[in-house]
Amino acid sequence: MGVTDPVNPLTQLSLAQLRQRTSIKWRAHAADVLPLWVAEMDVVLAPPIVEALTDTIARGDTGYPAGTGYAEALCGFAARRWSWGGLEVARTAIVPDVMMGIVEILRLVTEPGDTVVVCAPVYPPFYAFVTHADRRVLEARLGLDRRMDLSALDDAFRQARAAGRQAAFLMSNPHNPTGVVHSADELRAVAALAQRHGVRVISDEIHAPLILDGAEFTPYLSVDGAQNAFSLFSASKAWNLAGLKAALAIAGPDAAHDLARLPEEVSHGPSHLGIIAHTVALRDGVDWLDQLLTGLAHNRELLGRLLDEHLPGIGYRPPQGTYQAWLDCSGLRLPTDPVQDGPGIVSDLAGPARFFCDHARVALSSGHVFGSGGAGHVRLNFATHPDILTEALTRMGQAVGSVCLGRQ
Ligand SMILES: Cc1ncc(COP(=O)(O)O)c(C=O)c1O
Repeated sequence: MGVTDPVNPLTQLSLAQLRQRTSIKWRAHAADVLPLWVAEMDVVLAPPIVEALTDTIARGDTGYPAGTGYAEALCGFAARRWSWGGLEVARTAIVPDVMMGIVEILRLVTEPGDTVVVCAPVYPPFYAFVTHADRRVLEARLGLDRRMDLSALDDAFRQARAAGRQAAFLMSNPHNPTGVVHSADELRAVAALAQRHGVRVISDEIHAPLILDGAEFTPYLSVDGAQNAFSLFSASKAWNLAGLKAALAIAGPDAAHDLARLPEEVSHGPSHLGIIAHTVALRDGVDWLDQLLTGLAHNRELLGRLLDEHLPGIGYRPPQGTYQAWLDCSGLRLPTDPVQDGPGIVSDLAGPARFFCDHARVALSSGHVFGSGGAGHVRLNFATHPDILTEALTRMGQAVGSVCLGRQ
């Protein structure tokens, strides 16, 4: 592979090295497929994390976790990064991972059969985990500009609260898969609506450190009116620690009494090594994060150029955050079977994602599993080496080209 930039974490590993990985991104597809799907990054770990984990293992320090170091590290990070001083360790709880944390919070503030509103299309496990917890999902579609549609939310909140039932709004802040970073004004408007309808908001902020040039992240709990809400945070997306699970649930001041009811056994889920890795990431991994963000901004721009060159029929709006691009392939008129939107598992392939896997040997996430509005789209993970991105888009362009030529 081409250039290795010593400070860009996305250029340190060759394709041959990446193919030795045993995680799902690299094992779910055949060896000739370039995997740009599930949210794992093709980076080496931040050096302070490697050092902390290596030292911990060398000491045989592999027992149960203790203390509040993760929450303290997040408080410091939030104050420095987002100028948010409102996060208090006393209003946090350690949970195994973000999705399990969301389920546990839902259990605190809703009953089986109650409704959870989501903005579709959205991260597929929002559907699966909510229904598995015996709650009903109600979709409020994103607007045509891919941002939250406040009037759709207003309607959904009203429906969700019909018959006086409890209801929650599960928000992705920033939004996966569109990469939209909600503005402070949008979040204030959500808080006002939620207050008016008596809906509890749970803000999933796992992508919060992944804000690219030109956008600014607002923690939901920092806005007026969000005092009785919750947020969920984990260092796992920004520092590539999904295999070292640990996350934090955070309560606003008026939700602290709810969080205090979280059963003690929930805190037994995360591992000592996970908590160490996440704590060090937030405390000592910020230089690495900044280098990563520079690399991601470069890849975002590269992706735009590659799409212009090879696939001008695809609709692309550069994401403001995350490392996902939500690509509208409906204009390509690919010869695929008709696909219905329908929440599913992240590895399901249909429509354009099936086409690109079969004909370009590039694995993307299929849009239909993200719920209403998802079919016809693919989600592309650009947290990879620029050479892999270039090769993938070249192959995708060739695959579409050969089908179009075949049609003439
Ligand atoms: C919005 C969102 N929430 C949660 C998760 C999963 O987090 P965890 O592995 O901590 O459950 C992801 C993973 O990509 C995500 O994008």
